[in-house]
Amino acid sequence: TGMFTLDPGFVSTASCESKITFIDGDKGLLYYRGYPIEQLAEHSDYLEVCYLLIYGELPTAEQKAKFKETVTKHTMVHEQLTWFFRGFRRDAHPMAMMVGVVGALSAFYQDSLEISDPRHREIAIFRLLSKVPTIAAMCYRYSEGLPFNYPRNDLGYAANFMHMMFATPCEPYEPNPVLVRALDRIFILHADHEQNASTSTVRLAGSSGANPFACIASGISSLWGSSHGGANEAVLDMLDEIGDVSRVAEFMEGVKQKKYRLMGFGHRVYRNMDPRASIMKQTCHEVLTELGLQDSPKFKLAMELEQIALNDPYFVERKLYPNVDFYSGIVLSALGIPVSMFTVIFALSRTVGWISHWNEMISDPNQKIGRPRQLYTGSARRDFVPTDKR
Ligand code: CMC
Repeated sequence: TGMFTLDPGFVSTASCESKITFIDGDKGLLYYRGYPIEQLAEHSDYLEVCYLLIYGELPTAEQKAKFKETVTKHTMVHEQLTWFFRGFRRDAHPMAMMVGVVGALSAFYQDSLEISDPRHREIAIFRLLSKVPTIAAMCYRYSEGLPFNYPRNDLGYAANFMHMMFATPCEPYEPNPVLVRALDRIFILHADHEQNASTSTVRLAGSSGANPFACIASGISSLWGSSHGGANEAVLDMLDEIGDVSRVAEFMEGVKQKKYRLMGFGHRVYRNMDPRASIMKQTCHEVLTELGLQDSPKFKLAMELEQIALNDPYFVERKLYPNVDFYSGIVLSALGIPVSMFTVIFALSRTVGWISHWNEMISDPNQKIGRPRQLYTGSARRDFVPTDKR
């Protein structure tokens, strides 16, 4: 009993009001603070988009420079933080380490943080934006048994991340503008997506007044699953499993028999097309061409799969189109980023969205703890039975 409406999976219930991101799934529209994603991907850069998401307006040139300087200045993590890593198994999954180490930031910055104070919230936001790429790269380096690379503050946000991932003492990272731009675009396209599972998780965790770093760790956990951020990783696993163009038809049969899903296809909200996918598709072609990979078997297979699915009645009827993670997985793989890091990169990009939503929620004077109800379907009242009578 109870006067509650049942809506499993929140398919028709709004969980909050928000001014950050607008999506129209039928029309394929995505706006950050009113600005179409296409314009931001074309003309802006990730740090500017971060500013926009957090403060609600595009920065002036001066604000932009100051914001960039502040984020860049704090990219180093406390040396003691590197010890956290040593507690993980040497081959731990980078996402497992992300959940742990980002969550552990709450123990690191515990004394000074008063979340009711906007300035304190801003400091937490800056710490996250600055340090999450450093931690993400450390997760990779540790999982591969490689020494950590300190950040290079002369590089931009995406280039510095590539440096921390790949530089070696003998081979400093030389930024390639096409590849850096592609990665920056992946960051922009994943920066926010209103009340998806991980963002809703961050809001729900934060609604009790919990430490923001712990809340972000809860978002990372939620993102990990293959129906959400794990999809780009699953796309590459799927391509490996199919192996060759000659096996596509057989694989598609299994999809239609619902033995498994075509990863990187379909979206709860976008039923016609995912606007981020159109942008990423373009970037995908640029990157493959730049690297001379357009004829590599794996990428040919991906393009074949895309064409077959776009024309197959099973997919057309169900309005299943490639989503952003179909293409981002391919781009990341072409950039030399290992599959186990794909969801970490999604988490890195989405951190700004999570923290913007957290900040919006905490700033609301009428903010309440999130407390969904349920429809109880268990046993009616019954009396306890002693162990020897069961
Ligand atoms: N491959 C094959 N069939 C599918 C797929 C797919 N990828 N997605 C949905 N369907 C079918 C599903 O079987 C169902 O068919 P029927 O009507 O015959 O029962 C119909 O399409 C509707 O599916 P649904 O499960 O009701 O759709 P949903 O809105 O609950 O699921 C989704 C959305 C994204 C979880 C799902 O499309 C999926 O599992 N896709 C693959 C994983 C993926 O790429 N996820 C990334 C999403 S974008 C990034 C992010 O949000 O993190």
